[in-house]
Amino acid sequence: MNDRPHQITLRFADGVTHLIDVENDRTVLDAALEAGAPLMHQCHSGSCSSCIATLSAGQAATRAGSSASLLGSEYAAGQRLLCVTQAQSDCTFELPYTSTAGLNTAVVAHAFVDAIERIASNVARLTLELADGDWLDFRPGQYVQVEVPGTEEVRSYSPASIAAALPRLELLVRLLPGGAMSEWLQHRARPDDVVKLKGPYGAFFLREEHRRARHIFVAGGTGLAPVLSMIDGIRQWGGRKPPMLLSFGCATPEALFCLDELELRRQWLPTLETRICVDRCATGSLIEGSPVSALREGDGGPDTVAYLCGPQPMIDAASRRLVELGVPQEHIYNEQFVASH
Ligand SMILES: Cc1cc2nc3c(=O)[nH]c(=O)nc-3n(C[C@H](O)[C@H](O)[C@H](O)COP(=O)(O)OP(=O)(O)OC[C@H]3O[C@@H](n4cnc5c(N)ncnc54)[C@H](O)[C@@H]3O)c2cc1C
Ligand code: FES
Repeated sequence: MNDRPHQITLRFADGVTHLIDVENDRTVLDAALEAGAPLMHQCHSGSCSSCIATLSAGQAATRAGSSASLLGSEYAAGQRLLCVTQAQSDCTFELPYTSTAGLNTAVVAHAFVDAIERIASNVARLTLELADGDWLDFRPGQYVQVEVPGTEEVRSYSPASIAAALPRLELLVRLLPGGAMSEWLQHRARPDDVVKLKGPYGAFFLREEHRRARHIFVAGGTGLAPVLSMIDGIRQWGGRKPPMLLSFGCATPEALFCLDELELRRQWLPTLETRICVDRCATGSLIEGSPVSALREGDGGPDTVAYLCGPQPMIDAASRRLVELGVPQEHIYNEQFVASH
């Protein structure tokens, strides 16, 4: 067996490349971070997708015994989570962000609870205000970790607000039976409680390099949170706004939320079209079906960028449909809200 380290080329979206050597038994992420390459990362266990990259040359596979939250189609298309990836030959990986994006290192910040509102049958909005002197910058779509007060549990949330709204930070949280964060929000959280945050994390963020492309957002449930942040991020861009389509869905009309906020954005942004879907019991202008089935011929095309956030089956179906509609696979970004443990 050849024990020589493999040479790995890490190529960032701005063309900057880093060359590193990786021993056979190490993950690409560990070796890259040790060599000072500015890679995004957080969980180190294949679940958060922050360290995603595309293998464009060579052989590299998920380490035996590790699991990666990648869809089969993504893996087949060369996508890898570098924290659980080992090189089997010299390789080249393309990073879906610039060489400066990963320099935004995570910081700890404290915030006060401003309000807790139940906004749908199983969703709460948690509005926080950063403590004086604390700051936590983030890109639209990125997420923060929140420690559940009174416990040592940590959960990830993608702000629905944007950095320009800081020190105010808004989270949309799906309430799960028996969930640590869900129970705290429903039974113990009070205004002025202090919450510890850490971030920003994640490679799922609005890509400025696609600012002229048609934007498609597909969101299921609280997957709407990072999408709202991205739409508000686009609103801040100077000049003409790109055409945008948001397809958002929940199970029933009672489970929908933020419809007034979406209507307001439609008025602010005439290039934004919204399709609101429910799996069943549709009334009025609601579309019956999934946010994926609401995508139609003519929605996509090569000059389109898509952001998908929600449960894995929705992301999988949306990716396949968008590729069918002519959207390049490498312009489709997604985030799954997997359980934190
Ligand atoms: C990058 C990232 C960003 C996220 N952003 C958001 C966000 O903006 N809004 C949001 O609501 N959630 C988000 N999540 C999910 C969130 O971190 C928590 O997992 C979720 O809120 C449950 O926390 P909990 O403490 O209430 O329940 P837990 O104590 O974690 O779990 C309670 C029960 O529910 C199950 N469970 C947990 N999460 C899920 C899930 N996603 N799907 C199905 N079953 C589950 C657990 O296995 C357990 O049985 C995100 C996750 C990731 C990885
Ligand atoms: S750091 Fe690799 S998936 Fe989280």
